Amino acid sequence: MKVLFLNGPNLNLLGQREPEIYGRLTLAEIEFQVRQRAARLGIAVDFHQSNHEGELVTWIQNAKGNCDVIVLNAAAYTHTSVALRDAISAINLPTIEVHLSNIHAREEFRHRSLIAPVCCGQILGFGAGSYLLALEAAVSVTENRN
Ligand code: DQA
Repeated sequence: MKVLFLNGPNLNLLGQREPEIYGRLTLAEIEFQVRQRAARLGIAVDFHQSNHEGELVTWIQNAKGNCDVIVLNAAAYTHTSVALRDAISAINLPTIEVHLSNIHAREEFRHRSLIAPVCCGQILGFGAGSYLLALEAAVSVTENRN
């Protein structure tokens, strides 16, 4: 089993970016934790970050046939991107939406996720823990599929 983790804009700044909201771990440290947990569960992981919407779209398109589940923190594109939503719909691969922060407890423009209706579920508000919970969710999604 393989899980593709995709991270959107500004997540490369984790650690220094608004730590009171997003925590003090860098994205590399979160990736390390994910890889450690994945190794224990016997799961292969790909982990990418981009500040460019089109690059995220291309990674989603290329996921078909290359991985079993996508875990997507689309960051600000969550709230704006029809292109990411269409890409998820197009490939018909289970996709789990994750956020470090609880977007529903923040500004109103963050309450709406354009990708939520095409994802199998959302995990949010647990900081780096959201990524580890998403890994567990990925296992359960594939078990329920097979
Ligand atoms: C985020 C929440 C988004 O609203 C924000 O634009 C981000 C990060 C999160 O992980 O909490 O960049 O996706």
